[in-house]
Amino acid sequence: MSLIRNRRVLLGLGAATLALLAGRWPESPAAAARPLKVAFFTDIHARTEWDTPEALAQAAAAINAQQADVVLCGGDMITDGYDASPAMAAPRWEAYRALHAAIHPEPVSVVGNHDLVGVEPADGSSPAADPRAEVRAWMNMPQTYRSFDQGGFHFILLDSIELTPDELKYRGFIGPEQMDWLRADLARVAADTPIVVVTHIPLLTGFYQMTGGIGEPVPANRGVVNNREVLAAFENHRLLAVLQGHLHVNELLRWKNTTFITGGAVCGKWWRGPWHETPEGFGVLLLHPDRVEWEYHPYGWEARRPASQ
Ligand SMILES: [Fe+2]
Repeated sequence: MSLIRNRRVLLGLGAATLALLAGRWPESPAAAARPLKVAFFTDIHARTEWDTPEALAQAAAAINAQQADVVLCGGDMITDGYDASPAMAAPRWEAYRALHAAIHPEPVSVVGNHDLVGVEPADGSSPAADPRAEVRAWMNMPQTYRSFDQGGFHFILLDSIELTPDELKYRGFIGPEQMDWLRADLARVAADTPIVVVTHIPLLTGFYQMTGGIGEPVPANRGVVNNREVLAAFENHRLLAVLQGHLHVNELLRWKNTTFITGGAVCGKWWRGPWHETPEGFGVLLLHPDRVEWEYHPYGWEARRPASQ
């Protein structure tokens, strides 16, 4: 094919096609004048040992220095709620609340598996009737799944945890009631409004293929088992980004025009240092209506957890 014909072919491609080739959504008429800056921190595992409240103060200062328009939290605000009674978990919630109160603007959070309290309390007290009762009360969170709008973007916060009576104890799952809510929420969102989803358990990850080999499946407690059903609900919408936690690594994948980010961890390897070379940190996104920019920011914590613990 001649150069001239090549040029004609290129000119013949619409802007929308070129945007798809570049891994972007077509430009939106609702394009914001400037990108929205989002800080995304996840997997804090707040507790009181090993000077970790000092680490959280350091993390808060680093997050605030970013002067983000929106701050999102990906869950696991506290550590080991599952086998804690509400009394055992209270000091951990207090440590987390100190971080939450120090961050501006006020973070908006999803729940993680560690935030469910009192399923099998180790102190022998009776199991919680509702393991989400404590996180709701401590975080003033009447609903664990919800949505809000800011700066021309629609944010959807999912509750991705389902407790299960097997050895895994929970799995990643968006249940029928939440799916109904999600579809009803999306019905009110214009097709060209860019959407950001926040979920603790990932909808998409390459972690197991990269650490265990290409044929390694994602365990049911490490990915949302009905991810395709969830993503199908966005079929006629502009799903710009999915922000995920749970795996404590910094990972970015793009499927079609949607960017899936797993956002490292504030606690790194559960306060033992970096995990798979992802240090203790958080992420900063610049949200454009047609694409996202992502950078991971370590906040400089040197782990103080003794090797024996
Ligand atoms: Fe975690």
